[in-house]
Amino acid sequence: MADAAATKKSTSIWARHAFFERNSIWLLIGILLVVAIGGLVEIVPLFYLKSTIEKVSGVRPWTPLELAGRNIYVREGCYNCHSQMIRPLRDEVERYGHYSLAAESMYDRPFQWGSKRTGPDLARVGNKYSDEWQRQHLADPRSVVPGSIMPGYPFLAQTRLKTGEIAADLKVNAVLGVPYSEEMIADALADLHAQADPNADAAALQKRYPGAQQRDFDGNPKELTEADALIAYLQALGTMVDFKLYDDKANIR
Ligand code: HEC
Repeated sequence: MADAAATKKSTSIWARHAFFERNSIWLLIGILLVVAIGGLVEIVPLFYLKSTIEKVSGVRPWTPLELAGRNIYVREGCYNCHSQMIRPLRDEVERYGHYSLAAESMYDRPFQWGSKRTGPDLARVGNKYSDEWQRQHLADPRSVVPGSIMPGYPFLAQTRLKTGEIAADLKVNAVLGVPYSEEMIADALADLHAQADPNADAAALQKRYPGAQQRDFDGNPKELTEADALIAYLQALGTMVDFKLYDDKANIR
């Protein structure tokens, strides 16, 4: 009796399934439905979380000068050879430093994780070398690293930085969710110039962008060049989070 019932049941399931197997359009609709349910189960909860990225103290939006440098980094395609994402694997952490946190690229639009490492990861290259080294290396990589296959970018130090669109640039980032305030947008150009000028008043810049490094990055105080912006950006990479604080269990926030 039990066997017969089981057989009957399996036959009816088979009959229903046969419907899908014989009607390709319905099979397609069925697949879409099942996949959509799976997708919704994964995606819907994300909308109800307060945040998908854990906030980490120290992470701030790029200063206008760093943002201009980042634009040059993207324009020159540095991401084709350099990643900015240290994976939590021992060899990477020993070579590059603390693995990258999601929060460290939360203000990057678009992020610069990259997908290929012809050169080393740059996520923590900030403060690793002097400005002088960076200048020399950008202008002629083989003059400081003899075997380097990185192309030179000598024109950066000779090209005046175009600053006309910096406020609009901050504004677009703000629309995309980067917390640039009205004040930051209004003063973007002033902040940009202040950061590259060691004699400028630092107070306003530091208030808006705590920890921003302020000096003449390209070694040529007479002109604000693309090298100023790119080096300001490189020297800031990976320097915002104080990992001594972060790794001390008592201080995790
Ligand atoms: C064709 C690939 C390639 C491109 C494009 C490239 N790099 Fe490199 N980069 C390398 C290689 C290889 C090295 C390692 C040798 C050296 O230090 O020159 C390197 C090293 C570096 C270093 C030193 C990293 C360290 O930790 O020692 C920095 C900084 C750097 N590149 C910045 C840049 C920037 C900024 C750009 C874009 C303007 C750029 N690179 C474009 C290949 C590239």
